Amino acid sequence: MLIPREIIDDIRARNDIVDVIGMYVNLKRAGSNYNGLCPYHSEKTPSFTVFPGTQSFYCFGCGAGGDVITFTMKSENLDYVGAIEFLAKKSGISIPQSAAEQQGGMSRNRVFQMNLEAAKYFRSCLFDEKLGSDGLRYLVEQRRLPMTIIKRFGLGFAPDSFWSLTNHMTRLGFTEDELIAGFLGGKSKKSGKIYDYFRNRVIFPIIDTSGNVIAFGGRVMDDSKPKYLNSSDTPGFKKSKNLFALNYAKNHCSERLILCEGYMDVIALHAAGIENAVATLGTALTQEQARMMAKYTKQVIISYDSDEAGQRAAARAISMLSDVGLDVKILKMKEAKDPDEYIKKFGVENFKRLIGESRTGFEYKIENVIAKYDITLSENKIKAAGELCDYISGVSSSVERDVYTSSVASRLSLSFDSLKNDVERLRRKKLNEYKAKTFNNMKMSAMGIGDRTNPDAAKNIRAAAAEEAIIGLLLIFDEYRDAIMNEKISLSSDDFLSDFHRRVFEKIMQLHADDGGFSFSLLGEYFVPDEMGRIQGIEQKRRALTQNGYDVLYQCVQSLKNEKNSTDSDDGISEIERLLENKRKKMQNQ
Ligand code: CTP
Ligand code: MN
Repeated sequence: MLIPREIIDDIRARNDIVDVIGMYVNLKRAGSNYNGLCPYHSEKTPSFTVFPGTQSFYCFGCGAGGDVITFTMKSENLDYVGAIEFLAKKSGISIPQSAAEQQGGMSRNRVFQMNLEAAKYFRSCLFDEKLGSDGLRYLVEQRRLPMTIIKRFGLGFAPDSFWSLTNHMTRLGFTEDELIAGFLGGKSKKSGKIYDYFRNRVIFPIIDTSGNVIAFGGRVMDDSKPKYLNSSDTPGFKKSKNLFALNYAKNHCSERLILCEGYMDVIALHAAGIENAVATLGTALTQEQARMMAKYTKQVIISYDSDEAGQRAAARAISMLSDVGLDVKILKMKEAKDPDEYIKKFGVENFKRLIGESRTGFEYKIENVIAKYDITLSENKIKAAGELCDYISGVSSSVERDVYTSSVASRLSLSFDSLKNDVERLRRKKLNEYKAKTFNNMKMSAMGIGDRTNPDAAKNIRAAAAEEAIIGLLLIFDEYRDAIMNEKISLSSDDFLSDFHRRVFEKIMQLHADDGGFSFSLLGEYFVPDEMGRIQGIEQKRRALTQNGYDVLYQCVQSLKNEKNSTDSDDGISEIERLLENKRKKMQNQ
């Protein structure tokens, strides 16, 4: 692998696909996804869709698709490594020259052991009068944190020195390579010497739910930049899969979690006795984090910063959290930028009142739309109603649609029946468009027309369809990859009839067997963007049909094997001819 897995994950986590594509394409929200005009073919109605939940895009018109890396490859005309470097630069991530070697060979346990020692060292510095008094003064006086909280969160201080931590750790037997791999040290380009990564910062250790110190965040004590430095992903740590303070909150959250943006917000809430607060680790909320929260609680109250960026992030978090079945509410704060500041200004009792007054995702949407338009003008009222109906039409439960429609009717003083008509009409239209697009694509690819990516598909349509379904399932579900790896289902690359699908299968299984596991973006190193688009398309189709996946997988494997056994007698070409013949007959009959 050219670039370490952790860096690729980090780049994806810091480059939200909606933000990146949003800079090239004018995107409009459609339910939990975004639509726009495809940048890769000319069209009048948008068939280009961005899926924030899976951080992917797909054009139902031309079949372009992939993740943020594929998009950058296509849009900036770069190769895989070039696109990664482009995105890394944009988000301030440096790709260590010899990162691959540095990361290699370090086990999770070794990383945890090293981090634990580092955390102990940072803590001892904070309480060392000579080294850490600035840090302690900052936490106690400026951030007004009680000593009990400083200790409970294991906060620390990285002295204003280039060698203190690395010297200490080297004495304990950790090698330079290990320190660099764990983002505790960097290597000076000039002297080739190792230096401390965190310097003159207060340190927030990040601890997973099993109690391992998995990473660190370090904050400056003044206004200098960057405000926070964070460890990048290492073998033991994925930002996208962990939450700050979940190790404490998990014992207080059977009813609800409060999700904040910042470490300091969470700490301030815990200090005020609200112990069910967590935060993401400096990145946008991921699907994995949403699923993790769903394991621990029923409801999440989003308490993001009150600025525009925070509110935009909240809107996105609403759909991600509802998608995993959580009950979602949004807390609205006025006259303070974040929970930390709010509690300092108005006290914890008032914050608890805000928790009680938090609104559902839909109420939040209604208020935003109404705030955007001056609805005393009937023209604007129509626009507001249109936007809300469009939003409601994307909701899959009909009961929920009715409840929302009725609240829009009363907020805008419009008739329920006519709004409901609009909603249902829009819903039918969307469903039809979706069906037509997928059907068209399926028909084209089933007939092997214009299929340059997988020319073999035309030879045996049924086998190709089974292969597609298998690959779709393997792209989405870990457990099916396991089932095949453990030979619970026997399937090998020899079973595949088309060359392209065989290559995709082999790569998926190979990456699955690797240490870091499979992730869609890793395919980008082995397939060209057109092929990535096809793979994304396969995944997209499968997501739309993913019920009873195990049965589907089993049946497809069987039917693929049947096809293989019968290919000798079936030359495949006849299959297409039969299809075309049928079509001709139908047209004649019309
Ligand atoms: N963050 C980061 N790098 C930055 C800025 C922010 O990683 N340069 C992450 C941190 O995890 C931070 C979160 O984004 O906790 C939210 O940012 P912000 O609201 O600016 O930080 P606060 O935690 O509110 O910090 P403070 O109150 O100390 O300003
Ligand atoms: Mn803050």
